[in-house]
Amino acid sequence: MSAAPHASPLTPNGLFITGTDTGVGKSLVACALLRAFAARGARAVGMKPVAAGAEFVNGAWVNEDVEQLIAAGNVSAPRGAVNPYCFEQAIAPHIAADINRKTIKIKEIIKFYARLSALADVVIVEGAGGFCVPLNGSETSADLARELALPVVLVVGMRLGCLNHALLTAEAIRARGLVLAGWVANHIDADMPYADENVAALHERLAAPLLVRIAFGAARDVVTVTRQWDSHVEQWLRDARVA
Ligand SMILES: Nc1ncnc2c1ncn2[C@@H]1O[C@H](COP(=O)(O)OP(=O)(O)OP(=O)(O)O)[C@@H](O)[C@H]1O
Ligand SMILES: [Mg+2]
Repeated sequence: MSAAPHASPLTPNGLFITGTDTGVGKSLVACALLRAFAARGARAVGMKPVAAGAEFVNGAWVNEDVEQLIAAGNVSAPRGAVNPYCFEQAIAPHIAADINRKTIKIKEIIKFYARLSALADVVIVEGAGGFCVPLNGSETSADLARELALPVVLVVGMRLGCLNHALLTAEAIRARGLVLAGWVANHIDADMPYADENVAALHERLAAPLLVRIAFGAARDVVTVTRQWDSHVEQWLRDARVA
């Protein structure tokens, strides 16, 4: 995009989307947020710093998450900045990097984030896998979140085992001095027994707002999931503009 760098009205101008695991709805939430910000007139761009799992299409590696984020945002940004690291194999990122003789560097990701944030009012960063997934021999996705210093949105995939995963992840977020902006109860298991009681258990223990509850099957209903974010996005924009 040719837009000149500008001072963003959002302070800080991004959110880091993490989850209790891989496949719990981070992309669904990141895309809904991008659409909700765009609908409010904000310039919104997605970022998937590390993507594992890609197909070679028309001479380029294509990752589904990256495509979804690009389609949901309203800023045209260099693909290399949106997704600095992309690997063919859908495996743990540091292993994918190793077998491709690459090293994932957080410093590089931070540079690309800075480029995106100069183009947009808000950058929605989707983490890889869960919060503490390794990125290289010594650093993890949690280190990336800490370097970016963004408020974190935790997507909880509501299924058996999620209470432990959610509480551990919240602890790990706070241990790095990051703000847990809120959490999402994403109902990925249609038959989860006592789903409401599990949501209530997290509500009592996470000490952060339950931002949105996404029904099972709602992933197909982009409009409804996007609307669920409207009031939060309005509030974030209001807060940012007076900051
Ligand atoms: N509420 C839901 N109901 C039914 N299916 C869902 C729901 N949320 C997500 N899914 C489906 O689960 C799958 C994983 O969702 P999504 O890609 O958003 O997860 P992710 O956390 O981004 O995964 P990854 O770790 O691969 O980035 C997708 O096929 C998505 O359509
Ligand atoms: Mg994803």
